[in-house]
Amino acid sequence: MSDKVLVFYGSYRSDRMGIRLADFIVSRLRQKDLDVEFIDAKVVNLPMLDRMYKEYKPGTAPAELEALAQKIKAADAFVFVVGEYNWGVQPGLKNLTDHFLEEWFWRPAAIASYSAGRISGARSATAWHGTLSEMGMIVISSTLSVGPIGQTLGPDGEPTGDAGKGLERAFPRFAEDLSWWTEAAKVQRAKRAPPY
Ligand SMILES: Cc1cc2nc3c(=O)[nH]c(=O)nc-3n(C[C@H](O)[C@H](O)[C@H](O)COP(=O)(O)O)c2cc1C
Repeated sequence: MSDKVLVFYGSYRSDRMGIRLADFIVSRLRQKDLDVEFIDAKVVNLPMLDRMYKEYKPGTAPAELEALAQKIKAADAFVFVVGEYNWGVQPGLKNLTDHFLEEWFWRPAAIASYSAGRISGARSATAWHGTLSEMGMIVISSTLSVGPIGQTLGPDGEPTGDAGKGLERAFPRFAEDLSWWTEAAKVQRAKRAPPY
């Protein structure tokens, strides 16, 4: 059975640019033998965190929270497409992720960051690294860093110019790293049940 990969992105802005990188990653991962689903936090649109999923009695969580919990639990790997607001993370995606904890455990996660400038969202990527680790994911060391995003990807999510060529060159290592850790975690989960 194909590995199930969830790709998350969380800008709520009307003129959001990171969707280009999300589209690029989803399209390239779908060219592999993977079952890829895009989770757009703006579409899911969870309310500001009140109760975490686990704080609801079984069967009483709101439908969109329940559906997302089941998808996260069933996934083999995660990709987080992250932008940077004032050196920090984007609140829409952070709010979505905070609704869950144990549901994330024991799977690898990859970070792809971007920004309008040349720093490529690196400070946000650093913040997410700690957050995803705290949420029980194994964060792979390969990253994608895209900036300026407007000079790297077109509105259709396809690479443009020299920066786009650089992104195409960087993608295989990113995907292979995630694939290796996805298999490693899957084999280990089958060999020995997670301890908690
Ligand atoms: C509120 C806000 C804060 C920003 N802060 C940063 C920043 O700290 N570093 C940076 O490189 N870009 C920053 N930017 C520019 C973003 O990189 C750029 O707008 C990017 O397209 C945002 O992602 P989005 O379009 O997917 O929402 C900021 C943009 C906004 C709207």
